[in-house]
Amino acid sequence: MAVVLITGGAGFIGSALTLRWAREHPSDRVVVLDALTYAGNRISLSSLPEGERFRMVEADIRDEKAVEAVWVDEKPTLVLHLAAESHVDRSILGPMAFTDTNVRGTHVLLEAARRHKTPRFVHISTDEVYGPTPEPGRFDEEAPFRPSSPYAASKAAADLLAQSYVKTYGMDLVITRASNNYGPRQTPEKLIPLMITRARADEQLPVYGDGQHKRDWIYVEDHARGIEAAALKGKAGRAYNLGAGEERTNITIVKTILGHMGKPDTLIRYVTDRPAHDRRYALEVSRARDELGFRAETSLEAGLRDTVKWYVDNGAWVEHVKARQGEFGSSWYADRLKGASTQEKPVTLAGH
Ligand code: NAD
Ligand code: DAU
Repeated sequence: MAVVLITGGAGFIGSALTLRWAREHPSDRVVVLDALTYAGNRISLSSLPEGERFRMVEADIRDEKAVEAVWVDEKPTLVLHLAAESHVDRSILGPMAFTDTNVRGTHVLLEAARRHKTPRFVHISTDEVYGPTPEPGRFDEEAPFRPSSPYAASKAAADLLAQSYVKTYGMDLVITRASNNYGPRQTPEKLIPLMITRARADEQLPVYGDGQHKRDWIYVEDHARGIEAAALKGKAGRAYNLGAGEERTNITIVKTILGHMGKPDTLIRYVTDRPAHDRRYALEVSRARDELGFRAETSLEAGLRDTVKWYVDNGAWVEHVKARQGEFGSSWYADRLKGASTQEKPVTLAGH
């Protein structure tokens, strides 16, 4: 029986992946290792009963003893490592937590996997390690790392550490670098769920800078399938970009959400730009297509419509998770909305 250890399995992407793995691989044992920070929610996995097929371990990946105990108890045959501090805005306000969890926490896991000769390790990285993508063009997996935010830099450091374990110890390790995810169970402080939940309450929608920053949006269920493909078919030592080619400006996303909700564009407020705000991300995904047979299947149009519906239908989940977000949301957005305008602002940051 394969034992699949999913770190960060109570988070947004981790819960989609955990539910998918339990559904698609019913003979495997799935163990989630998650510290249940503000971003980790046990209720996201409430449909999985604890027992022979599933266990939830509440522990911190920085805690070497706790991590060692998981390896001794469970002897994982596959690790899918997603646990991280994941929000760029939080990394601007409090960067040290990102180095702690994303770099040191990843290192603790790599060491446990090395000690126990774990057969396979999948490290979940991000397109943000490459930094802003010039237009036109896309970054492939060999593009240099030019991270902009403390979040992106911590993920780049973790990615490089993972690569070093392949080169130094011959670890069987695969890296995935995905673009922006959206879908059910995302903490409502990220762009799409923030806009849906605020619009529903007729609150102002803070759009950073001129709203012309571009992201490539991948539906979370597609991303979970891509991670599964990388785990099962990825070549050891390889990195795989996972994107959907669904590139949109932020303002287009926000206006589409408002359209689905029947809410007016007058809720939009242009606010001070995020420092070091990368103008565009775009991934070349032919390696994942050719080597993993992976292709994203959900169009942004269909995925966004379903996502709006999910948040509208799951008010209890939203309230529970918002209560756990802490002070971050209210103070950060209130500050940014001061002096906000309904007019697009020119972006004057150097390098854009
Ligand atoms: P998330 O913030 O929703 O979830 C992170 C999870 O990690 C939470 O369950 C949290 O409790 C857990 N966690 C945080 N610190 C921990 C610690 N010290 N020990 C144990 N658990 C801890 O994040 P997400 O959006 O689901 O992202 C998951 C992974 O995918 C991250 O590694 C992120 O960098 C990467 N990623 C995210 C996106 C995206 O668009 N969201 C895109 C590409 C890559
Ligand atoms: O690209 C992959 C990354 O995508 C992941 O590695 C990160 O974990 C994930 O959080 C996400 O990072 P972003 O910074 O792109 O996501 P966020 O939802 O915070 O912002 C998306 C875009 O929307 C970005 O250009 C900033 C903008 N934005 C965001 C918020 C929260 C706004 O204009 N207003 C907002 O209030």
